[in-house]
Amino acid sequence: MGFSPVSKTSPVNLSLNYSIAVLGFLILGLLGAPVVECDIVYQAINCRKHSAALTDFGAKGDGVTSNTAAFRNATAWIGWRSHPHCASRKMAHWQFQSHQQFHSFSPEGSSYSWIPGNFAEDISEYPLIEPLKSYGRGRDAPGGRYISLVFGTNLTDVVITGENGTIDGQGAFWWDKFRAKELNFTRPYLIEIMYSNQVQISNLTLLNSPSWVVHPVYSSDVIIQGLTINSPVGSPNTDGIDPDSCTNMKIEDCFIVSGDDCIAVKSGWDEYGIAVGMPTNHLIIRRLTCISPDSAVIALGSEMSGGIQDLRAEDITAINSESGVRIKSAPGRGGYVKDIYVRRMTLYTMKYVFWMTGAYGDHPDEGYDPKALPEVKNINFRDINAENVTMAADLSGIKDDPYTGICISDAVINLSPKPKKVQWNCTDVSGITSNVGPPPCDLLPEKVLESGCDFPTDVLPIDKVQLQTCKLAF
Ligand SMILES: *[C@@H]1O[C@H](CO)[C@@H](O)[C@H](O)[C@H]1NC(C)=O
Ligand SMILES: *[C@@H]1O[C@H](CO)[C@@H](O)[C@H](O)[C@H]1NC(C)=O
Ligand SMILES: *[C@@H]1O[C@H](CO)[C@@H](O)[C@H](O)[C@H]1NC(C)=O
Ligand SMILES: *[C@@H]1O[C@H](CO)[C@@H](O)[C@H](O)[C@H]1NC(C)=O
Ligand SMILES: *[C@@H]1O[C@H](CO)[C@@H](O)[C@H](O)[C@H]1NC(C)=O
Ligand SMILES: *[C@@H]1O[C@H](CO)[C@@H](O)[C@H](O)[C@H]1NC(C)=O
Ligand SMILES: *[C@@H]1O[C@H](CO)[C@@H](O)[C@H](O)[C@H]1NC(C)=O
Repeated sequence: MGFSPVSKTSPVNLSLNYSIAVLGFLILGLLGAPVVECDIVYQAINCRKHSAALTDFGAKGDGVTSNTAAFRNATAWIGWRSHPHCASRKMAHWQFQSHQQFHSFSPEGSSYSWIPGNFAEDISEYPLIEPLKSYGRGRDAPGGRYISLVFGTNLTDVVITGENGTIDGQGAFWWDKFRAKELNFTRPYLIEIMYSNQVQISNLTLLNSPSWVVHPVYSSDVIIQGLTINSPVGSPNTDGIDPDSCTNMKIEDCFIVSGDDCIAVKSGWDEYGIAVGMPTNHLIIRRLTCISPDSAVIALGSEMSGGIQDLRAEDITAINSESGVRIKSAPGRGGYVKDIYVRRMTLYTMKYVFWMTGAYGDHPDEGYDPKALPEVKNINFRDINAENVTMAADLSGIKDDPYTGICISDAVINLSPKPKKVQWNCTDVSGITSNVGPPPCDLLPEKVLESGCDFPTDVLPIDKVQLQTCKLAF
C-alpha cells in the first residue's frame, strides 16, 4: 500500500492505513516460547510483524521536548529500530503494510513510566481539521477543530496499547485558554479514531486530556480495556470515553476519574446528527470504576440524534458521582435511546441514582427542528445498591413525548444525612418498579417481577472476538 512522507503543513497523512501501539516495558517469559529481553509481548486481534520506537522519530521523555511532531511523524514514518537498551538488535525491513504499529519504550527500556514528554504548547503545531459531519461544528466553538494528540482516520486494525505506560495530555494549557475564552476553535482530544474498524485501545494511563479523553467515532468493532484515565475533577469537558456513532464496541476494566462524565455515549447533534443517521449500538460496558462529582457515571447524550440502542452495562462501581446512568435529550435532537440494560451498580455518595432529562437544550445553531422529538423507551435497571444518596430519582421526559418502558427492579437506596424531601420526581415518564425503595412515584407503579427487569442473555459479536498473544522479536 502507499506511503508518503509527511509534509510540514499536513503532518498527519489522513489516508494512511496504519496502526499504533504504545508499548511499555517487556515482562520476560510471558510466552512459552523463548522471549529475549528486547522482545515485546502484547495481545491483539492480529499480531504485527514490524515495529518502530517513538524515540526513533525524535520523541524524548524528558518532559521538556515537544513530542507533537514526533507523534505525527511516527504515524507516517518508516524506520528501523535502534533502542538504546537493545541497540544491537536493529529492526530491519520495517515497512507499512496492512498491519503496522508504532510503540515506545522507556528510554532505559526498564520502566513503565515512559512518558511521551510534552505535547506542544504552541497552538500552531495543531492543524485544524473539519468539524464532524454529525455535529456540524466543533463542540467548543463553530468551525474546525484542533487535531487530537493521537489521531487516526480511515484505518483497519488499530492497536494502541502500553502495559500501563502513560500519555499525559498536559491539558492545563488548554483548560486555561478555554476558560479565558481565548480559543477560536474546539480543543483537541487525547485520542481520536475516526472511520475505522477493529480498534483496540488497552492498558494505558491517560492523564490530563485537553477535553474528551478517548473518542472513537464512526467506527466499529472497538475494544477498550484496562485504561486508567485521570482528569482533575473540575477540568472542563474531560469525559473519559465517548463512544460516538460506533457499533459493536466494548469497554472493560477501566478506572476513570473525570471532570465531566466517565463515559458519554453519543451519536451526533440535532439536524446534523439526524442527517448523518449513524447510531451507537451494541455497546457493552463492564467492570467500570468511576469518580465524577460533576456529572454522570454513564451519560446517554445529550448528542444522541443518530440514535443509541442496545447498551449493556454491568458491574459498575461509582464513588462520588452526580448521577448513575443519565439520559439527556431535548426537542430538536430527534433520534432515539432504546433497549438500555443496566445491572449490578454499586454507588457511594450520589446526588441522583436515576436521572433523565428531556429539556437539555444546547443546540448547535438556530437551524434545529424543534419538532424533531427523540424516542426514549425500554430502559432497564436492576440490582442497584446506593449509599449516601441525596435524591433517588429525577425523571422528566418531554411533554407529549414521554420516556416509556422504564423498568427498575431490586434497588436499595440509602439516603444521605440531608436528603431531598421529594425522593422521586417523575414527569412525562411511564414504566414499572419492583422491590425498590424509597417508594417510587405513581408513574412507575410497583409490580411483582419474579426475575427482575430484562437483561439480554445473547452474546454480542464483540464478545466473540478472540485476542491473540503476540510477540515482537528484536
Ligand atoms: C474516510 O472514510 C469516510 C467514510 O467512508 C469518507 O467519507 C472519507 O472521505 C474518508 N477519508 C479519507 C481521508 O480517506
Ligand atoms: C492488559 O494487561 C493485563 C494485565 O497485565 C493483561 O492480562 C492483558 O493481556 C493486557 N491486555 C492487552 C490487550 O494487552
Ligand atoms: C518529522 O518529519 C519531518 C520531515 O517531514 C522532519 O523534518 C522532522 O525533523 C521530523 N520531526 C521529528 C520530531 O522527528
Ligand atoms: C497503572 O498506573 C496507574 C498510575 O499511573 C496506577 O494507579 C494503576 O494502578 C496502574 N494499573 C495497573 C494495572 O498496573
Ligand atoms: C483568536 O482570534 C483572534 C482574532 O482573530 C486572535 O487575535 C487570537 O490570537 C486567536 N486566538 C488563538 C488562540 O489563536
Ligand atoms: C455523603 O454525602 C455528602 C454529600 O451529600 C458528603 O458531603 C459526605 O462526605 C458523604 N459521606 C460519606 C461518608 O461519604
Ligand atoms: C420535578 O421536576 C419538574 C420537571 O422537571 C420540575 O419542574 C420540578 O421543579 C421538580 N420538582 C422537584 C421537587 O424537584
